[in-house]
Amino acid sequence: MKKHSATNRATSRPGYDELKDKIQKREARIGIIGLGYVGLPLALLFSEQKFSVTGFDIDQRKVDTLAQGGSYIYRISSDEIRKAKAQGFSATSEYARILEMDAIIICVPTPLNQYHEPDLSFITDTTHAIAPHLQAGQLVVLESTTYPGTTEEVMLPILEKENKKGLKAARGDASGKPSAEKEFFAAFSPEREDPGNTTVARRDIPKVVGGLNPQASELAGALYGSIFHRTVPVSSPAAAEMTKLLENIYRCVNIALVNELKLLCLRMGIDIWEVIAAAATKPFGFQPFYPGPGLGGHCIPIDPFYLSWKAKEFDFSTRFIELAGEVNEAMPYHVVAAVASALNQRGKPLKGSRILVLGLAYKRDVDDLRESPSLSIIEMLQHDGAAVSYNDPFFPSVGRGRKYNLNMESRPLENLGGYDCVLIVTDHTSYDYARIVKEAQLVVDSRNATRGLVSEKIVRC
Ligand SMILES: NC(=O)c1ccc[n+]([C@@H]2O[C@H](COP(=O)([O-])OP(=O)(O)OC[C@H]3O[C@@H](n4cnc5c(N)ncnc54)[C@H](O)[C@@H]3O)[C@@H](O)[C@H]2O)c1
Repeated sequence: MKKHSATNRATSRPGYDELKDKIQKREARIGIIGLGYVGLPLALLFSEQKFSVTGFDIDQRKVDTLAQGGSYIYRISSDEIRKAKAQGFSATSEYARILEMDAIIICVPTPLNQYHEPDLSFITDTTHAIAPHLQAGQLVVLESTTYPGTTEEVMLPILEKENKKGLKAARGDASGKPSAEKEFFAAFSPEREDPGNTTVARRDIPKVVGGLNPQASELAGALYGSIFHRTVPVSSPAAAEMTKLLENIYRCVNIALVNELKLLCLRMGIDIWEVIAAAATKPFGFQPFYPGPGLGGHCIPIDPFYLSWKAKEFDFSTRFIELAGEVNEAMPYHVVAAVASALNQRGKPLKGSRILVLGLAYKRDVDDLRESPSLSIIEMLQHDGAAVSYNDPFFPSVGRGRKYNLNMESRPLENLGGYDCVLIVTDHTSYDYARIVKEAQLVVDSRNATRGLVSEKIVRC
């Protein structure tokens, strides 16, 4: 990986000036690849700021839904889609339209494979698809969370090798001879969205940007500066890639710490939630993290392992990440053991017991199932012979995913006394916990959703 200082002031060059001018005048045409939880809201933000936005996705169902003015993400209304369409937003699966774009932003998935290794196939597929249509002077930004080096070592070699015009990514500080007709610009800028968070507006979240050279940094900074209140330039794509991983590893490790302390507190008869609330009153040096039934979502359970994998190339073992992974991955097993123990206390075996799981989503009030601990908890309970049902207002049914095969339908919140145990895995705000405790025989609560309620029926785990 070449080092450079992209934060030096960019010197002028033809393709750069033209694109910067277009961005400032809101005339730049923006292509967003991957219209999921990250790409679609991003497309709408640019559209609100009067940019012409084209979304690219290989999922024809999504393209068709958007074409009809519909939405497939709970927190995005059809109204927002229709407004964006009136502003010129459209969605397509035709990669040939890349050549019409001035800036291309890639927001495709970055999962782990079955061996817990990075699966970059979505990034490489996308890059192979863009390359034949790449034009001089275009800006290509990768947003997908990934290990340091992906932009330079994976994305750029494909773009440079497979484009049809002999284009190269602009490198160095460009004070030498301008060759804009043979160059494109490249940067990495991580997504920092917090789904379900209504306290911080998306545009108030500072956007970190690392360009391959100063021009790329300035162009990406100007582009994102038109939709975010603050951009934070770093010296390279790798620094930007690492920044995102640091943020998520920080969360992963701290959540593991409180999960471990929760297990100790349970043995010691201390309420970990009371302890965290008290510690959080310290005005400096402490940030609260909360225990739970296991990690979920597309980021925290996955991203740290992108770095562990890359670190091996440098003969380096990321011990904090491995240890945090070990503690966090044990939490769903702890919840299942807690259910079995609570039933046992009431003279019932887990086998044959009727259990209602509340909440499938990986966290409160989101319509996202990815890596949700509920899925593995349900499978473990079923494996042990329990008759499991679930309720989740965001998921009327659940079928088959990459790691689960449930084929179940959400049950109404009725006749709660007919279940041997109600297990709270996701603490959606729409649930009336007082009513649930009143009607259920036994409530096992892995989220402290029943705080403030006093009943012998409640087992907090
Ligand atoms: N969801 C979040 O809250 C969040 C937050 C921060 C970072 N991220 C990162 O952002 C990236 C995207 O995450 P997401 O949650 O939006 O994923 P997602 O699965 O919701 O959306 C990805 C979209 O990309 C599309 N896609 C896949 N391959 C494609 C291809 N070759 N061409 C065009 N489209 C393609 C899929 O059909 C899908 O619509 C990931 O790297 C993720 O780690 C996500």
